[in-house]
Amino acid sequence: MPDKLRIALAEGDGIGPEITTAVLRIFDAAGVMSAIDFVPVEMGQRVFDRDTRGMTDEAIQTVEDCGLIYKGPMGTPIGGGGKSINVSLRKMYGAFANIRHFQALPGVETVYSKAGVDVDFYVVRENIEDTYGGIEHRLTNDVVECKRLISAPGCDQVHRQAFETARRLGIRSVHCGHKANIMKMSDGLFLDRFRRMASEYPEIETGDVIIDALCMNLVLRPQNYRMVVLPNLQGDIVSDLAAGLVGGLGFAPSANIGHHISIFEAVHGTAPDIAGKGLANPTSLLLSGLMMLRHVGLLKQAASIENALIATLESGIHTADFGHHLGTDPASTDTYADTIAANLGKKPTTREPLPESASDKVTFERAERPRHNTLLRTFETTRSVCVGCDIYLDTTISPQELAERLKAICATTRFELTLMSNRGTQVWPTGSVYTEVVDYYRVRFELRDMHDAPSLGQSPIIALLDRIAEKFLVTDFQPLRQYDGIRGYSLAQGQ
Ligand code: NAI
Repeated sequence: MPDKLRIALAEGDGIGPEITTAVLRIFDAAGVMSAIDFVPVEMGQRVFDRDTRGMTDEAIQTVEDCGLIYKGPMGTPIGGGGKSINVSLRKMYGAFANIRHFQALPGVETVYSKAGVDVDFYVVRENIEDTYGGIEHRLTNDVVECKRLISAPGCDQVHRQAFETARRLGIRSVHCGHKANIMKMSDGLFLDRFRRMASEYPEIETGDVIIDALCMNLVLRPQNYRMVVLPNLQGDIVSDLAAGLVGGLGFAPSANIGHHISIFEAVHGTAPDIAGKGLANPTSLLLSGLMMLRHVGLLKQAASIENALIATLESGIHTADFGHHLGTDPASTDTYADTIAANLGKKPTTREPLPESASDKVTFERAERPRHNTLLRTFETTRSVCVGCDIYLDTTISPQELAERLKAICATTRFELTLMSNRGTQVWPTGSVYTEVVDYYRVRFELRDMHDAPSLGQSPIIALLDRIAEKFLVTDFQPLRQYDGIRGYSLAQGQ
């Protein structure tokens, strides 16, 4: 008999232990335990008292050994050094794609269920990059910044995951949500890499949609979408919007997929207001568990549990947080779970039952542990040359005066002042006196003679920076580079 697959299990805080116990009872009844060994790990609120990571060394070791973790909700201490375990795990283990499935469920009343509109789509969110790097600085008295990093290989891995998931699930259409009309370089890269990846999946229809239009379309006509792939922050917001379409976070499972470690979790919090009262709804954790069973190959068990869940909901069983319109008493967490377990083998009547004939064996293979950090590269080499620099200054003087002083400083150098902007809007050489300014300017210097670019190097730019720093407070500095002759920097608004 082959070894069972080991999966780290963190039951979490608040309602976490109750809903985990409930789900494991259903798994047990469906025969999952003969294929999987759940290995308990210590993580969460109680560990924060001892360790600011909120997880023990043994827990980390177990997760790394297993490559899979199934987790309940965990509290993050407010203030102090403790960081969200959910975010830490995703980033530390490179779980780059967050996949959430939003489907209308029987007994869960929403405006769409009342209107007879079927909602069933996936959101695939990039999980590592974007503003979630949390790279923030206070630049001046009045201005803070958050750096938004988007990388080509970071985009590629989430797009590939989306297309592979769509192919596996038989999803025929994938959309890319973005704001490339404004953030032409960062969202532009995300969209460009989506289009390139799409060419490898010709059987899947693709489209792109600007994020604000996407939000409106999802509310107006959610049935038009089957899968949407998004950068991190936009994906975060759209995920919760989508949860609202199907009745709330209690019905939205979540998988965080990485090359080496994947995390399956409930997306709601620890619900401290109802913890220990037997009121909690285990559906989100259960549905996340079904994503996990499918991920490891236990398709038959996942299908039979999902059929039993739908049959249970069709029979009017519900926990206290939903189903109020049914006029029936809510079931406790345990009764709800036991009813699902008892309904194994039953088939839904309001929708097509899922086929229970598929694989019931573990097919998951643990990727080999890397010996070094993996360097993500696109392997498309470009030739870059420096053509100038943007220097950021902390100053309150007027654009006109600032320009005169900077022109004087660079007069005897190889650079000329070509642009000044404030909060991204051009204020020199042209601009409007109606443009309001703050104490943080971007001033752009470019080579007077672009023929010098190939031999420029960085030293003349650093020398220019040095001159400016003698007269002004420099807060930031960015060399301007062209890649294969294409500008690697944005123009200012109005330029
Ligand atoms: P929450 O999701 O815990 O609760 C919001 C409301 O939803 C409460 O009224 C709660 O009773 C209800 N609710 C949530 N899950 C439920 C379930 N399964 N069944 C029935 N009712 C449910 O959000 P809140 O109050 O903002 O956060 C509480 C704690 O949870 C915080 O410490 C927060 O950091 C943590 N949290 C953890 C998350 C995770 O581990 N993935 C996600 C969100 C919050």
